[in-house]
Order: sequence, then structure tokens, then C-alpha cells
Amino acid sequence: MQRLIAAIDTPELARAQSLIADVAPHCGLVKLGLEFFLRHGTQGYRDAAGGRPVFLDLKLHDIPNTVAGAVRSLLPLAPQMLTIHAAGGGAMIAAAVRAAEEAPAKPKILAVTVLTSLDARALSDIGVAGGTTQQVLRLARLALDNGADGLICSPHEIAQLRDAFGEKPLLVVPGIRPAGAALGDQARVMTPEEAINAGADYIVVGRPITGAAQPGQAAAAIAADIAKLRAG
Ligand code: C5P
Repeated sequence: MQRLIAAIDTPELARAQSLIADVAPHCGLVKLGLEFFLRHGTQGYRDAAGGRPVFLDLKLHDIPNTVAGAVRSLLPLAPQMLTIHAAGGGAMIAAAVRAAEEAPAKPKILAVTVLTSLDARALSDIGVAGGTTQQVLRLARLALDNGADGLICSPHEIAQLRDAFGEKPLLVVPGIRPAGAALGDQARVMTPEEAINAGADYIVVGRPITGAAQPGQAAAAIAADIAKLRAG
């Protein structure tokens, strides 16, 4: 299993195509997000992905009927992974999962718990008392109880989530920096090896790959570092 996901964060179609061509051989999936999808839409997705496995990271969050409709609208693209916000509630999560099940190859539904950009103060500003960890665990349970396949989480949440929910949920983990790489705006990071050893199923790496002079080589180096760690 190839556990590396390269985040293709660019609004430019040609750049996305060239990055994906370079890195895809070394990745399990490539991740396309709002920045790309809102500009280029479904045709841009098809042109960039070229049939390769995609994690479509749109972090859906609306009433259950609308989220179910949004998931259905995405099914013809056959993404392998889709994201929703667990904070949308149990009924919304379940509606997203049911809609995904209508596809011949069901995309994995992954829930975002607490955005890593929110600290305890920012959470309290939106009415969440009790701190980040408690809220992450609460939303993770809600997501998994309502059929989500897994969670997006910070590397520093992996151990707690594995303790609480065991091996079954897929844990997909951004906030990864190879040793010596620039942090950018990521504050609390782990190396690819640390995150896989902590129990991540997939790691998401953006700028250390896309900002490299040779993105394909950067992806290959990370893939080689983690390939030897956990089989399966
Ligand atoms: O460039 P970098 O490796 O920081 O990119 C990480 C990717 O993961 C970006 O696409 C970012 O939006 C996403 N992400 C994140 N932290 C989260 C959720 C998603 O960095 N908590």
C-alpha cells in the first residue's frame, strides 16, 4: 500500500497536471482541494487526474439533504476519498455516507474534526468549551458512529484516536514535514516516519513536494522512507 498523498494545492491547471504526472507514481493518491476545484470544476478535475486515484478535499458542511446532493454530484468523478466536517452533525454525516454508497466504488468518507488552525481560544470564541482534545474525540466518535470511514487528524492526535477507536478508522494525516524541511504555516508537525509509526494510514504532504525543484524526486524520497515501515 502506498501511504503517501501529495497535496496539489495550486489554482493552475497546467501546473496541477505537471505536478500530478511527476508525483503520482510515488503516491497512493493525489489530493485536490477547494483552490483547484472551484476554479476548474469537474472538467479540470478530470484533466488533472487523468484517471488516477484522487482524494477530493472539499470539507463539505451543510444541511444533510444538501451534503447528500453534493456527494451525489461528485460521484461521477469517482474520487477515492471525500471530506466532510463532522461538526455538521450526525444526520449530515450519515447522509453523506448513504449518498456515497450509491456509487459502484464507494468513496471513503473522511471527517474533519477540529481544524488545526483553531486553538483553544478560537474554539471558545465559537462556543466550544473544554479544549481541543475533548472536541476532537467527541466529533471523531460522532463521525465514526454515523458511518464515516475515517478521520483527518493532526499527527499529534493519532495516538489518542487509536487508543479511543482502535485500528479500524482510516487516519489521514497532514502537518507532515520531512526532517529539515521548512515548516511554512504548520506549527506542530511530525516527520513521515514518525506519523506512520504513530499509526497514520496515510500522510498528506504538500509544499515539501510541490515546492521542491524536482517534485517527483521529493515524493519518491518520502515514499521510500515510509515504504519500509509498515506493510499492509
Ligand atoms: O503544504 P502542506 O504540507 O502544509 O499541505 C498540507 C495539506 O493538508 C494542505 O492541502 C492543507 O490544506 C491540508 N490540511 C492541513 N491541516 C489540516 C487539514 C488539511 O494542513 N488540519
